[in-house]
Amino acid sequence: MWLNEELAKNPQFSSELITPDSVCFDIHMLFKDSPEKFWDLISTKYAASPISDISAYETKITRLKTYLTAEMSVLDIGCATGTQCGDIANNVKQVTGIDISSKLLAVAEERMAERNLDNINFIQTSIFDESFQAGSFDVVMAFFVLHFFEDIDVVFKRVHELLKPAGIFISETACLGNKNKLFGSLLRFAGHLGFLPKINLLTTQQLERSLKRTGFHIVEKTRFSNHSDAEFTLIAKKNSS
Ligand SMILES: C[S@@+](CC[C@H](N)C(=O)[O-])C[C@H]1O[C@@H](n2cnc3c(N)ncnc32)[C@H](O)[C@@H]1O
Repeated sequence: MWLNEELAKNPQFSSELITPDSVCFDIHMLFKDSPEKFWDLISTKYAASPISDISAYETKITRLKTYLTAEMSVLDIGCATGTQCGDIANNVKQVTGIDISSKLLAVAEERMAERNLDNINFIQTSIFDESFQAGSFDVVMAFFVLHFFEDIDVVFKRVHELLKPAGIFISETACLGNKNKLFGSLLRFAGHLGFLPKINLLTTQQLERSLKRTGFHIVEKTRFSNHSDAEFTLIAKKNSS
């Protein structure tokens, strides 16, 4: 009961997504070194799961649009089915959505075609892809993905490199380090064993410190949802050197 309640707060690990018929704990299915298998496996159910607080989500997207202009290029890290990419596409020149899951990206492609959006490029790759050139994005977004990286400083340094001068970095992260420590430790342990992707128990304070260390200053820190477990959206700007 307790575990189910905790899982419900972290939809990507929800027991409804990870059902016995969808998960076969065959040794070849362990996710330690291939987290994309996890996301491919739960892709159908993930794509069908609704946004938990739609009103807060819409308020957030409206707010994010105040940072966007028609000539901007945006990178969305861990874009999954491309929801955020699609919701901002008409406000910018170009959106690049990257993810490790080919199945989630296939859903993203379908949804963008349904919405008649033609300025989004979905790529199965990581932010460390060398074909991304330094200083090529005005805005980088990362929603509920940073906790899957082991070294957050390395990620922020790469985001800093990819951004143009005064570029904007928008992130929202499952900060399991600020929550139920026992539950977080269980998830992390499951990640170490390979039953889930590896998870970093981050805190909001840790993210803020890391942003400052890596050359950003925070321009906005907002919780858009009133839910007790809602995360902060951090909006940071690249420092002028
Ligand atoms: C919890 S989902 C969040 C999806 C979306 N950003 C949102 O907020 O609705 C996490 C996504 O990050 C992707 N992901 C996990 N690790 C990644 C990595 N190292 N690089 C890029 N994407 C990653 C997963 O495939 C999944 O689509």
